[in-house]
Amino acid sequence: MGGGGELESLWLLFGIRLRCAHVELRPAREHDLAQLAAIFPDDAEHDPNVPMLDGLSLPNNRKRLVLQGYWGALGSWSVDSWCLNFVVSVDGRTVGVQSLEADHFPELRVVDSGSWLAADSRRQGVGRAMRAAVLALAFDHLGAAAAVSSAREDNLASLGVSRSLGYRDNGVSASRAPTGPCTLRHMRLRREDWQASGRGATVEVHGVSRCGPWFGVEMPLTGDTPA
Ligand SMILES: CC(C)(COP(=O)(O)OP(=O)(O)OC[C@H]1O[C@@H](n2cnc3c(N)ncnc32)[C@H](O)[C@@H]1OP(=O)(O)O)[C@@H](O)C(=O)NCCC(=O)NCCS
Repeated sequence: MGGGGELESLWLLFGIRLRCAHVELRPAREHDLAQLAAIFPDDAEHDPNVPMLDGLSLPNNRKRLVLQGYWGALGSWSVDSWCLNFVVSVDGRTVGVQSLEADHFPELRVVDSGSWLAADSRRQGVGRAMRAAVLALAFDHLGAAAAVSSAREDNLASLGVSRSLGYRDNGVSASRAPTGPCTLRHMRLRREDWQASGRGATVEVHGVSRCGPWFGVEMPLTGDTPA
């Protein structure tokens, strides 16, 4: 077994594979970082609470945050707070990132998500497919009770993805953004609405059945999609 294989046998999350239509997701790896930083779009918001490094340009600070986001998620993983970052590809080409995250998942059973796509890969249904892929993982394999998503009220693309997958409006709140205060719109998808939609059947999930300890849940709820 090569070096990568040995690592996958220790960090079992690296073996997860999701597919929805022509959109494929696999956990981000170190060798993806340069490509992800290169295509990180200007309109993907970074966390306004993370301080910038003085002396580094804003674009290079934002690329630096893509790298630290990857390392931070792996280094701080715990059952009570985790974030799984997937590289999204279409026809073998890396086009963006879809993340799935949760705090206190065993008790609360609620997942959140975040995503971005390179500008030339938008408005083709990729955003919806990659969100559906992680929702299938959350609801059908991890036993989530609800999924939430939040976006600025003027982010019609993110809100469009949520609405098209059956999320319902769940209120607004004031928030800080790099450009100043803004209104966040919160969306929520219930397990029963996901199941009634039948969208889980459009997603293939592989490699998750041994990952129960990472999420603090009994596995498998549902086995991997049959080969
Ligand atoms: C959010 C994002 C991932 C959506 O991906 P996408 O592939 O363009 O979205 P889809 O093509 O799957 O569209 C899904 C739905 O949203 C709607 N939509 C997408 N972009 C839209 C836009 N700019 N304005 C209005 N509606 C939009 C689509 O019409 C579709 O709805 P429908 O099924 O009712 O027609 C992408 O726009 C992006 O990367 N944005 C920048 C980063 C970002 O804002 N991330 C979210 C942070 S909360």
